[in-house]
Amino acid sequence: MNDLRNIVILTGAGISAESGLATFRGPDGLWEGHRVEDVCTPEALARDAGLVHRFYDERRAKLAEVAPNAAHEALAALDAAWPGDLLIVTQNVDDLHERAGARRLIHMHGELKSALCAACGKAIGWVDPLPPASLCDGCGKPRLRPDIVFFGEMPYEMEAIDAAIRDADLFVSIGTSGAVYPAAGFVQTARHVGARTLELNLDPSAGSFYFDETRLGPASELVPAMVRELLV
Ligand code: APR
Repeated sequence: MNDLRNIVILTGAGISAESGLATFRGPDGLWEGHRVEDVCTPEALARDAGLVHRFYDERRAKLAEVAPNAAHEALAALDAAWPGDLLIVTQNVDDLHERAGARRLIHMHGELKSALCAACGKAIGWVDPLPPASLCDGCGKPRLRPDIVFFGEMPYEMEAIDAAIRDADLFVSIGTSGAVYPAAGFVQTARHVGARTLELNLDPSAGSFYFDETRLGPASELVPAMVRELLV
């Protein structure tokens, strides 16, 4: 892999599974006991803000009990050492990439440790529980909500992500089921521009077909091995 210069890496819930955070599409189809539609849509927020806020309060509190694993650490080491362009695009709302030290990182689905003002759009770093109707320190309105991209909302920084993929020589997908667009379609853009495409996942994903190569196994083993190959 030593003819490569620009790399885009997409990560999903699978990269944080070995840190102890639940993936979304478990065998029971529930996310921590809830249907995604009940906690992860604008309609759910409008219908029962208390439930949605409590759900994300629990996920935010859980971050204090978990730590980055070898996969997050390997990607941070790659980020620090890679001389070309590199972008880690995560669908995860946890903070394990940044706690491992990754810097070139986009949270396309938002972040647990951020609150978003639904009135003025200001994002505010947040570590405590977030009661519904909390006041925005920008516009003063009682409209703070979890800074999570719900189903039906536009993911963050799509233009920057698209530009990076169009410049990439290598696109890697790690620990994602390929069930949710637009992230699930990134591999097709990467193929279209002639990038090499590699998937690292525990099980074959919905999009495995699109990748030049799929390696199956736990991220904590596959990611450090890939990083060693890239940094020789
Ligand atoms: N190592 C590698 N892959 C793993 C591991 C592991 N230890 N454990 C699980 N996986 C894989 C599973 O096989 C599965 O394919 O991770 C994938 C997780 O898939 P999902 O639970 O669907 O998570 P993700 O793809 O990140 O979901 C995308 O859906 O609900 C929305 O917005 C939410 O960002 C999320 C999006």
